[in-house]
Amino acid sequence: MTDPLASLLVPLPASAETVVGDGPVDLGHGVHVRWVDERCAGVGTHLQADLDRVLGPPDDERAVPLALSLHDLGPDRSPEGYRLHVGDGVSLLAAATEAGLARGAATYRQLVDRPTRTAVPMVIDDAPRFAWRGLLVDCVRHFMPLDALRRTVDAMALAKLNVLHLHLTDDQAWRVASRAHPQLTERASPGGHYELDDLAALVAHAADRGVRVVPELDVPGHTSALLVAFPELALGAPPASVPTSYVVPGVSVDPSSEAVFEVLDTIVGEWAEVFPDECFHIGGDEVPVLGEERQAAFTARMVAIVRGHGRTPIVWDEALHPGLDRDVIVQAWRSPALLHEAVRAGHRAILSSGWYLDLGVPLRHLHAVDPLDPPERLQASVLAPWRDADLAGVVGPMAAATVEQAGSLDGASPLTAEERSRVLGGEAAMWCERVTPALLDTYLWPLAAAVADRLWSPAGSLAALDHGLVENRFDLLPAFGVWTDVDPKRGPRVILGALADLAGDHGLDPRRAEVALAALADWCEPVRWYARAVVGWPDANGRSDDAPPPGTGQPLDRFVDALGPEADGPRAWRRRTARPAPGDAYALVAAWRAPAAVLGPLSDGPSILAEPARLADRLAAAADVLAALLDAAAGGSTSAGVPAAEAEAEAEAVAALGPLRAPIGEATIAVTSVFRALGAQGRA
Ligand code: ACM
Repeated sequence: MTDPLASLLVPLPASAETVVGDGPVDLGHGVHVRWVDERCAGVGTHLQADLDRVLGPPDDERAVPLALSLHDLGPDRSPEGYRLHVGDGVSLLAAATEAGLARGAATYRQLVDRPTRTAVPMVIDDAPRFAWRGLLVDCVRHFMPLDALRRTVDAMALAKLNVLHLHLTDDQAWRVASRAHPQLTERASPGGHYELDDLAALVAHAADRGVRVVPELDVPGHTSALLVAFPELALGAPPASVPTSYVVPGVSVDPSSEAVFEVLDTIVGEWAEVFPDECFHIGGDEVPVLGEERQAAFTARMVAIVRGHGRTPIVWDEALHPGLDRDVIVQAWRSPALLHEAVRAGHRAILSSGWYLDLGVPLRHLHAVDPLDPPERLQASVLAPWRDADLAGVVGPMAAATVEQAGSLDGASPLTAEERSRVLGGEAAMWCERVTPALLDTYLWPLAAAVADRLWSPAGSLAALDHGLVENRFDLLPAFGVWTDVDPKRGPRVILGALADLAGDHGLDPRRAEVALAALADWCEPVRWYARAVVGWPDANGRSDDAPPPGTGQPLDRFVDALGPEADGPRAWRRRTARPAPGDAYALVAAWRAPAAVLGPLSDGPSILAEPARLADRLAAAADVLAALLDAAAGGSTSAGVPAAEAEAEAEAVAALGPLRAPIGEATIAVTSVFRALGAQGRA
């Protein structure tokens, strides 16, 4: 049957975006999404529901029609490519696949301006640069309820991420029920588990949004939970109980035991019924106890099992071995050098090194990592946050050394065209040791959207972006909150509210305390890399002596837990300094002094309250340094050259800031970039 909508398809320009028409398209009477081909129904129904919620239900007479259709858009087109024409008459969205329609539907949402109920008229011809634009969510260290995963899928679709990688098993828990082996969830799922039907429903929800779901069953290491349920499968002594600590315990299943492969085959079979994706992740990370050869032999058996269920295996880079079947996809997490090693050996590969969202890497650094950059540049961008003394503090050298020990691209030759074609894309990794369901959005957004942008947009368009522009780009994204239930401030509000109530018990007005804590949080960040995971590292992380040790039982209720990976204050400041207003910097002095004026009395309280109080003191001290600098600048000449007094004040400011940045309660004040911006302005 011919599609009657095909005749409506105007020829579109070959690429890029063009604003058309005289002005915004009026959506005041809603949008009516239409389709003839039933394969459009998943994307169409979901888009209609979203538009109804945001714009109100369509008025049958006057609503703007949006026609969806499936078309071959021509040879050499990505299956996710789409064409979108938003105009005054009928708007059109065409793609070759349902995933392509989902990408176009995401763009349509971005063109809608809710306050004015209008859309930007545009003609867009768009396609992704990489086919694999993934997001790993660790559902083990904190059990992530299905609603948290559903809203993550919704936000992924909006950002055009297309693969949700679920990390479902690890030392601390086994998160998937098994029909054949109920002891897995009876004995080894503290905190919760998913029924197979729950996961099937999540997969269906994701499919309607063009998002694939790839499960990870992590073997042979990271298997303490499995071995609590099946002690007889352990290499050596089985763990007595499911560990709460996040220290990797170095356990493994026994690769010489046939029973191991029988159990795993059954579980892979059960999972394959609910996860239809062509790929299946079998882990393979951090298992030095086995040695390379035994790990390689084990991996070969697992690869055969996964193949037997019709799936393509994915492994972490530790499983890379000359004997590894060439069809296995390798995920490089320890170093970008392992991405190169994998594609040179003939594997398809995915980059995650540089994209660990749990490590506190700022957005502009996440965005700078490009899987296809020349070798030394790729390595430099992965290492950049750890080479920046301001960002990484004392852990930076350790972080950089860890990446380089796993592999270096120094002096490496560029990949050939054929090798480059095997780089499938990349994956942001959200490990959840310190991320509760309420904090998931805080850590994911907008950081994961920066990775999404890198993986979607044409390389040339990204190379031109400087840091400031990168940040603005994400501040300008339509709020995820308009189209999804994502709320990055939800978790922080709960934590700060509870701390404010506790401050009330210590004589403060809880409402004032809450405002002061929120203002302080805008200028504080957690210590980066793995510093929060490491006990006995007091100089590096500023842990309070009585803080509970890292582990699954640790309540994440301290001030540091209310901080996102990157503070809002400096980003908002950098945005403003693009067009500095007189008095902005003095306003900052007042803002930095305010929290201490309220929280000061808590410095002698219990550590959970003293931590923010002492950070507030630090911020107030930074305000004094800033005020001195501004006074020196105001007193100096405004004509050419830097007055000596001003230069001296700058040197003093730098010296004074060093000690103020030492962590308290695993958090630091985040003020350096303001001083940098002012210094740069002073010399401009
Ligand atoms: C990993 O971060 N252990 C893959």
